Amino acid sequence: MASPLRSLVYDDNRYHKAFQLFLERSSEHQCMKDFIHNILPDILASIGNGKPHLNVIGVGSGDGRIDLEMFSELHQKHPGAMVDYEVVEPSSQQLHCYKGSCSDLDYIIFKWNKMTAIEFEKQWKLKEITKKIDFIHMIQMLYYVNDVEATITFFRSLLAPNGKLLIILVSGESGWGKLWQTFRGQICACEIAQCTTTADVKSILDAGGVQYKSYVLPSQMDITECFTEGDESGELLLDFLTEVDHFSQTASPQLKADVLKLLRDPACSREADGKVVFNNNLEVVVVDSPR
Ligand SMILES: C[S@@+](CC[C@H](N)C(=O)[O-])C[C@H]1O[C@@H](n2cnc3c(N)ncnc32)[C@H](O)[C@@H]1O
Repeated sequence: MASPLRSLVYDDNRYHKAFQLFLERSSEHQCMKDFIHNILPDILASIGNGKPHLNVIGVGSGDGRIDLEMFSELHQKHPGAMVDYEVVEPSSQQLHCYKGSCSDLDYIIFKWNKMTAIEFEKQWKLKEITKKIDFIHMIQMLYYVNDVEATITFFRSLLAPNGKLLIILVSGESGWGKLWQTFRGQICACEIAQCTTTADVKSILDAGGVQYKSYVLPSQMDITECFTEGDESGELLLDFLTEVDHFSQTASPQLKADVLKLLRDPACSREADGKVVFNNNLEVVVVDSPR
């Protein structure tokens, strides 16, 4: 039977409101920044082969906050280089915020692509573009494509010989992994909101014999409000966790009870100082170019 639940990604406004709240309640961006400033610099140093011009693509960049952190490291490692940067982001709201925060970066030439990854791929192929890309990132966006393997294969094929494709998703071992493994058929039933974790990405890469390195980023999220019936923030966080629009109102009472029970379970969370702290561990997968 088809799921009556509607994916949160179909409501751009509510999705981004939920994502903002998730950022406030979690250490998501802090753990990414730690990675960007401590580990990414060496990875960035290995790209480009000393060229004065670097090509970069950001897929699903959102409002660009994390991109800007990466740029400062990229600029430090390649101080004289100009960067040609394609931003691929379907949300006009997010692109608007991004454009407002990057006007003083004179070493980057931005190209704004208000479109999805698959639309970008179609456009690239149609125009028969042959340029090669030094660095591509997809941070917390592979949940929203309907063919993860094809998306990775296409973007990896664009890499220059020593280019890198950086993917960040929730770890298969995180609370998200447990939640989605348990309820995959019920809450992730939409073709563009897949419950993908790095475990899925790594098994795709392993099956194809593709070389990569991975790094776990410990992270947590305060989900205490989810357990107060009718709490507006709690309901928004529940939507984000399940990727279902208005989950509390539209899920069956049984499914809602089962999800809340698992969210509190030690498989997903720990209790500390009266708070329920969800395991939001992320994982970075850095994929080598095909050549
Ligand atoms: C969870 S947010 C992550 C934003 C940013 N990378 C970060 O980590 O802060 C996911 C982003 O992917 C974008 N997105 C959704 N579907 C997409 C698709 N099919 N192709 C490219 N981006 C997509 C959304 O609009 C959103 O900005």
